[in-house]
Amino acid sequence: MKSIKVGLLGIGTVGSGTFNVLKRNQQEIAARAGRGIEITMVADLNVERARELTNGEVEVVSDANLVINNPDIDIVIELIGGYGIAKDLVLKAIANGKHVVTANKALIATHGNEIFKAAQEKGVIVAFEAAVAGGIPIIKALREGLTANRIEWIAGIINGTTNFILSEMRDKGLDFDVVLKEAQRLGYAEADPTFDIEGVDAAHKLTIMAAIAFGIPVQFAKAHVEGITSLQATDIRYAEQLGYRIKLLGIAKRTAAGVELRVHPTLVPASRLIANVEGAMNAVLVRGDAVGETLYYGKGAGSEPTASAVIADLVDITRLATADPEHRVPHLAFQPDAMTDIQILPMSEITTSYYLRMRVTDETGVLADVTRILADSLISISAMLQKEPAEGETRTDIIMLTHQTQEKNVEAAIAKIEALATVVGAVTKIRLEELN
Ligand code: NDP
Ligand code: HSE
Repeated sequence: MKSIKVGLLGIGTVGSGTFNVLKRNQQEIAARAGRGIEITMVADLNVERARELTNGEVEVVSDANLVINNPDIDIVIELIGGYGIAKDLVLKAIANGKHVVTANKALIATHGNEIFKAAQEKGVIVAFEAAVAGGIPIIKALREGLTANRIEWIAGIINGTTNFILSEMRDKGLDFDVVLKEAQRLGYAEADPTFDIEGVDAAHKLTIMAAIAFGIPVQFAKAHVEGITSLQATDIRYAEQLGYRIKLLGIAKRTAAGVELRVHPTLVPASRLIANVEGAMNAVLVRGDAVGETLYYGKGAGSEPTASAVIADLVDITRLATADPEHRVPHLAFQPDAMTDIQILPMSEITTSYYLRMRVTDETGVLADVTRILADSLISISAMLQKEPAEGETRTDIIMLTHQTQEKNVEAAIAKIEALATVVGAVTKIRLEELN
């Protein structure tokens, strides 16, 4: 059978990995797909570099429109990134009847509903395995492997850059800026690294997983997004002393009141497998009612790991291209007319446990005042750490871990604690998940 013809938009980190892996493993891939898969055209702003990367073997152009308008191209891979030109090109490719593969989580998390609707109307597939957790086949697992389950929650380390930064800071005592530069050099970080360190990239990925897990539209704007830039080394150390690691987790949880959709630094018991995921590695823990917990671990970024997911999508499309669109796996796992719009809960309504650190003057009654406020707010303490004041100091740190409570209770209690004359400055609050 004739090879399926692919046009590649953007041959940077992921694009070059895709080109190389597809070429290196072409026979094995064709044996799985049932026919050859061939990149025949590449568009990149830097035409010279693109020609070098492709060894002059394919047609290289600077205008991506030439690829999406080429009638010989069956599948377009969008690896440009962002939601400006990329959105335009993806929608035009769909309108031209092309199947699309993208690794662009920003695009899918913000414009996925519009893109999937257009694709469905046109009878083409938009595949996005590489958009979440790079090389880990988590989309496939959520959409197909776990399809029997009512998924209860997902908790994931889904940004390699921040996990790399947290690991290196803890293990090697390196500064934040030094480690970020290294992550950028290694090709993990986004073009705009604030997306990584401020939690935006993780929230994009979480938004996509939540849509597939719960059958809700993608709605990035409603996610709570908090990064690692205000995390202090002191809290990483205190957490360790209490038996916890701090990870940037993306958490999507189905509750009776709605869906929790949140990304923030989180204390996780050091004994949990996910707490031991280090460096740029990603891991996603999924709880389904039938299967219980399953954990997916692997490289969430980088040239060839991400290419692995892009090519898996190419193979899927190649196998399904001739199938009746009605019999394909729906883009978001649920049939479009069976999706529900369960509300995303505001943060005040979420329920979790908390790490609270406060600086207090070391005098009689301080602890009693703080615990009284917590008790009055119906917050129960599960562990406590009080440090001796340093030599010549009259102030010390008190660290408390709470049992589960609603965020609004904790916020109200913190306001009262901060108003105490014996408490100095703001109370540090970090959420804690036992994940059991
Ligand atoms: P890169 O910046 O390395 O590559 C993007 C490429 O697209 C560059 O070569 C760029 O050229 C080119 N480009 C930019 N604008 C255009 C345009 N208008 N027409 C044609 N080409 C254009 O990005 P990555 O490969 O790292 O990322 C690609 C996508 O994959 C992003 O959506 C990213 O979020 C996602 N992703 C990346 C991962 C990673 O590990 N890097 C992992 C998972 C997903 P120039 O350099 O000249 O601007
Ligand atoms: N910047 C992302 C990360 C790339 O660090 O995980 C993979 O999506």
